[in-house]
Amino acid sequence: MEQQIIVRIAHSGDVHYSIDITDEMASSAKARGTGIAKRTPEYVAKKIEEGKSVIAHTEDGTWVGFCYIEAWQHGQFVANSGLIVSPTFRKSGIAKKIKQTIFQLSREKYPNAKLFGLTTGLAVMKINSELGYEPVTYSELTDDEEFWAGCKSCVNYEILMSKERKNCMCTAMLYQPKSEDTK
Ligand SMILES: CC(C)(COP(=O)(O)OP(=O)(O)OC[C@H]1O[C@@H](n2cnc3c(N)ncnc32)[C@H](O)[C@@H]1OP(=O)(O)O)[C@@H](O)C(=O)NCCC(=O)NCCS
Repeated sequence: MEQQIIVRIAHSGDVHYSIDITDEMASSAKARGTGIAKRTPEYVAKKIEEGKSVIAHTEDGTWVGFCYIEAWQHGQFVANSGLIVSPTFRKSGIAKKIKQTIFQLSREKYPNAKLFGLTTGLAVMKINSELGYEPVTYSELTDDEEFWAGCKSCVNYEILMSKERKNCMCTAMLYQPKSEDTK
């Protein structure tokens, strides 16, 4: 019988997955030939400990997927970053479930924040659109220097800088909280 996949908010008991997660992030980025903001196992472990991440695993504990929350400009902007699904488990709706769960968690933790993402991936664009994100220009994103510093390890960083951070290869998407959500 096929094993069920559990998608849930990660907790301190999940820290041992950190190396699997960062190894897969690195090899997927290499396979795609795209640069990606580099994450260390320690950084992923911190996100897990803080309750700011979502993990997917099989019933017997095999790691399946991951995503985490990052906040910028004192929580005015929030990104759901580092989405990754283990290659054996792709194309069966896991990324969609992870993104739905981290979206809900982000809305609970930061109800007034604008949620945003930068991506070249069609899967992520589709999922974000379903969640209510819309494509925007980079001018609508955070101007927090620390966020943009994350692009330094991307192969397209020179393009981004030559365009004065106004555009690049990634599509920017934004979810604006509706005013009635925050009442
Ligand atoms: C991108 C990734 C997370 C998708 O995970 P997944 O579990 O296979 O995605 P899902 O099965 O939930 O698919 C969601 C939607 O995207 C589509 N999709 C999935 N992979 C796709 C691909 N490579 N190309 C185009 N569409 C894709 C699915 O058909 C589905 O569309 P639908 O709603 O119309 O049916 C996974 O391929 C991955 O980890 N890739 C490497 C890391 C990466 O690119 N992360 C994103 C960084 S922004």
